Amino acid sequence: LFGNVEQAPKDPILGITEKFLADTNPIKMNLGVGAYRDDNGQPVVLDAVREAERRVAGSHFMEYLPIGGLRDFISESVKLAYGDNAAVLAEGQVAAVQSLSGTGSCRLFADFQKRFMPGTKVFIPEPTWSNHFNIWRDAGVEFAKYRYYKAETRGLDMDGFLEDIKHAPAGSVFLLHACAHNPTGVDPTPEQWRQLSRAMLERGHFPLFDMAYQGFASGDCDRDAASIRIFLADGHRLAVSQSYAKNMGLYGQRVGCLSVVCDNKRDASAVESQLKAIARPMYSNPPLHGALLVTKILQDNDLKQLWFKEVKGMADRIISMRSLLRKRLEEAGSPLPWGHITDQIGMFAYSGMSPEMVDALAAQHHIYMTRNGRISMAGVNTKNVGRLAEAMHAVTSG
Ligand code: LMR
Repeated sequence: LFGNVEQAPKDPILGITEKFLADTNPIKMNLGVGAYRDDNGQPVVLDAVREAERRVAGSHFMEYLPIGGLRDFISESVKLAYGDNAAVLAEGQVAAVQSLSGTGSCRLFADFQKRFMPGTKVFIPEPTWSNHFNIWRDAGVEFAKYRYYKAETRGLDMDGFLEDIKHAPAGSVFLLHACAHNPTGVDPTPEQWRQLSRAMLERGHFPLFDMAYQGFASGDCDRDAASIRIFLADGHRLAVSQSYAKNMGLYGQRVGCLSVVCDNKRDASAVESQLKAIARPMYSNPPLHGALLVTKILQDNDLKQLWFKEVKGMADRIISMRSLLRKRLEEAGSPLPWGHITDQIGMFAYSGMSPEMVDALAAQHHIYMTRNGRISMAGVNTKNVGRLAEAMHAVTSG
């Protein structure tokens, strides 16, 4: 019956984890998937999350959540994204549902776009997180790429970006990484965001912010939402995909939020009802546990402050690993410029290594990363950084 079914290609990110797991050499290193590790290479459960778990334990039945998810979770999430005093929240202009983390939020939006923004394309940055393409492809929405990263300067291609905004059909959806761009670690400055916002307003484009790393760029959740707040202040209608996978370390709980800023309360209510209509046949309703944990943390000021401190701690450890990796590469005698490793922000270093170099790292050094040369800095620590630098030097000097 299924004799004609071909093996699907491995996922460019999660497929790396499969290769890593299959490697039996004890010195192996997984710098593929963006999942935070401590200085001993171990996964971390935040103290704020442990405390929330204690408070939640035994306090709830295991009933279904409503299709749209936990109400308190949603109201805390949109405040975190738009700001406590955002006018669009006070005016009831925001439609929002709990989602299955970042992927789930993007997929809900993509399906919504297919139904209610017919004929529009989604413009996706080049490069971007590989799953973005799959999500819009499976939702049946046509996508195009916009220029984002300039390899020569290892920085933002602002001119290319602005030109692509100008030439995209009016009313296109632009997928933007709110902060800590994945994979490049290159973000627009606030002034550049203002320019981008004005350019998109002029063309009537619809921005969708994918915010998978709030807190991971600067260590400050408000500062990391600056892009969204700038667009809001300019009066954009927009959408935001939030994930708590990275910033609360709730990866496997699949907890996120999709919100859409509408013209008024009536529209927000209609849009929210349609998001629920899309969710119901897809997964019925979202999972309960992670949403309870997030709500406990965000509703309790002490826990929230503890969480802020812990996010900053994770962001700071990554920043210090960037400096150390650069230093070790220089000490190893690499003549190449590695300043971009410390210039970039967020969880990843976009190293500039070629797919062949990445293959050599895996084959000769048991070090795994995505073939676009992206290093998950979250997997680098004081114990493995030296070996990583030596190996990078070896494969880049060949
Ligand atoms: C990543 O980019 O490594 C993460 O967002 C994990 C994923 O699901 O791909």
